Amino acid sequence: MMEENQRLAVWVLWYVFQGKNIDQALLLAEKELTLREVNLGAVKDYTYGVLRYGWQLKFIVKKLCKKYPSQLIENLLLIALYQLLYTNDDAFTIVSQAVNTAAKLDHIALKGFVNAVLRTFLREKDRFIQVAQQNEEARYNHPQWWINKIKHQYPLIWEDILKEAQQRAPFTLRVNTRQCSVEEYVKKLNEAHIDVVWVNNEAIILATPCSVDKLPGFDLGMVSIQDASAQLSLNYIDLFSQARVLDACAAPGGKTCHLLEHGQSIELLALDKSEDRLQRIRDNIKRLKLSTPRLSIKGVDARDINSWWDGVQFDRILLDAPCTGSGVVRRHPDIKWLRRESDISQLVAEQEALLNNLWPLLKPQGKLVYVTCSIFKEETSEQIQKFLKKHTDAKQLNSGSEQESFIKPDSFHDGFYYAVCQKN
Ligand SMILES: C[S@@+](CC[C@H](N)C(=O)[O-])C[C@H]1O[C@@H](n2cnc3c(N)ncnc32)[C@H](O)[C@@H]1O
Repeated sequence: MMEENQRLAVWVLWYVFQGKNIDQALLLAEKELTLREVNLGAVKDYTYGVLRYGWQLKFIVKKLCKKYPSQLIENLLLIALYQLLYTNDDAFTIVSQAVNTAAKLDHIALKGFVNAVLRTFLREKDRFIQVAQQNEEARYNHPQWWINKIKHQYPLIWEDILKEAQQRAPFTLRVNTRQCSVEEYVKKLNEAHIDVVWVNNEAIILATPCSVDKLPGFDLGMVSIQDASAQLSLNYIDLFSQARVLDACAAPGGKTCHLLEHGQSIELLALDKSEDRLQRIRDNIKRLKLSTPRLSIKGVDARDINSWWDGVQFDRILLDAPCTGSGVVRRHPDIKWLRRESDISQLVAEQEALLNNLWPLLKPQGKLVYVTCSIFKEETSEQIQKFLKKHTDAKQLNSGSEQESFIKPDSFHDGFYYAVCQKN
């Protein structure tokens, strides 16, 4: 029932606005309520939708309500406005369901209020949309500090970046070419009546997202879900037979598995400091049938090399560093709400320590690939400039132009940054 979906979404948003990420918020909200018929797909659509367009929606709620209602009722109004503006659901059904949901939230007295607010919105929808356009946060759906930073760091393309970040993320697969070719997999998708919109190397973008149990051969390990930008790590790392490779921040193993799909004879050490997330690497390796005696997985802090390094240098190091995630906000719109500007300096310090501590572990002529799914320059080009200044035995191989290292977010790619540093 739509009311139950709205009610659960109200609580998911409650927890996100309290500082939890979407996955944690969903678990907490499900515990909070005793629900009968919930459509989780709809609940996710409402919560992701509100988080994606939340500044615009909150701006309109503020204009509509003379007095602040309460966090729960505000969340309900945000959900209803999202549905009215961005879905094809019938407007009068949305309003009447929202009125019923208000009652279920123990706000029977507010049924009339919710009804009146949403009906006022429907009467003057275009005017409210226009007024919201005048406000920068509401227009670009990002916090002001973030808008200012992108404007400053990307003076020519800032608006494209902010607009793209409000779109839905593409649903991208990576074919495990150890099991079947890309052509064969596209054929399987066609046979399953799943529409493909883009194919590049091993990346396939589907017209609409679907659950993994609908994907042919997912359980058998034929395919993984991974953005096309993340798949580029394979091109940059330049594997060769018998290479000794370190994947320093490996969980949940998206890139680890991609390396193993291609480097059958490599020796690979995968580290991550989060024990919980390490299990996801093991599960992915098992599903994709990539187990090999030449792979070790360790739950350690990669910065603390004395705790895990055996003293033998590596030919390749992949450092997919912890970062703000500013390049992947359309996939994880909660990041826009949870990130604080003050988080950046702490992450920059962690990235710097990882780079500096791991560099001595690379063989001469070896390559270190530094990756972030952030596009903030403190974490990307400025970080690497600092690193190159400090390590005179390092040169960046893909430094000709910014385009070579910065992957601009577009319809096919998340925003990413890659720097390939070679040791003299
Ligand atoms: C961007 S994610 C890695 C994604 C992964 N490479 C993939 O493709 O699936 C960053 C990871 O770094 C881990 N991490 C953060 N700091 C670390 C450290 N000091 N040592 C090891 N792992 C760390 C986090 O637990 C997180 O799993």
